[in-house]
Amino acid sequence: KHVAVLMGGWSNERPVSLMSGAGCAAALRNAGYKVSEVDVGRDIANVLAELKPDVAFNALHGMFGESGMIQGLLELMQIPYTHSGVLASALAMNKHQAKIMFKAAGVPVTDHVIVSRAEAARAHVMPPPYVIKPIADGSSLGVFIVKAGTSHPPQEILREDWTSGEEVMVERYVPGRELTCAVMGDVALGVTEVVTDLTFFNYEAKYTKGGARHLLPAPLQPKIYDKVQKLSLAAHAALGCRGVTRCDFRYNDAVGEDGELVCLEINTQPGMTAVSLAPEQAAHAGHSYEDLVSWMVEDASC
Ligand code: DAL
Ligand code: MG
Repeated sequence: KHVAVLMGGWSNERPVSLMSGAGCAAALRNAGYKVSEVDVGRDIANVLAELKPDVAFNALHGMFGESGMIQGLLELMQIPYTHSGVLASALAMNKHQAKIMFKAAGVPVTDHVIVSRAEAARAHVMPPPYVIKPIADGSSLGVFIVKAGTSHPPQEILREDWTSGEEVMVERYVPGRELTCAVMGDVALGVTEVVTDLTFFNYEAKYTKGGARHLLPAPLQPKIYDKVQKLSLAAHAALGCRGVTRCDFRYNDAVGEDGELVCLEINTQPGMTAVSLAPEQAAHAGHSYEDLVSWMVEDASC
């Protein structure tokens, strides 16, 4: 099979996608596929028409690649592609829409409001602690945690080079632990707890070797571990996702009997870099990186 690995693009997560794509391409070559590496630009339709791949391996992250748009083009061109389809991708990329779907499916989320950047910068939209984040971006880019006792909202949100949309999500901050669980087809892989000395699991912690420790399996009570897996499957199903996704959670074990567990988001194009979480969980479940990307190619459809 000839596989075109789509990577790069022009979203804020371009550098992450180039790392994901390089890893996937190398592993697919090792697995015996013919691989073309494609740095995606606005001429992608022409490039694909020329290459005529059997499968498009989507290693893009962020706007265009993760938002349903490239998926729409691949549907139109009848090229089978990995990961989720048009609607699931579009819903997952928009954290506001995804949370509406999660709530309807009984997946717990934290309260939020949508306001303009100007409003978020003018005065506290809710009592701190809270989080300001782009509605449709990834890798924690543009995320601000406003700590308890902070007098003014962060003014950096007004900076001129902001490319994450004029509206932002302001979300109640859930203190506690960071958990994540990938789904492969209809199976939840392991649950990882992410521990970092940096302020939170931000861009640096995500992509710097040693930026965060991944505890896999996460040291949780079995019933909580189980709940994270079940909620990840429920979130995946709620949006109609396909292939591999990864669901991110916050868990505050200091309240109530079972603590508070909320789903922050689902990633329909989870990172595939050397330090990424989904490949690590696949390995834990007995699937090497090479097996994982091969499975994705064989699972591709349009
Ligand atoms: N958005 C990054 C790639 C992730 O979720 O892994
Ligand atoms: Mg994300």
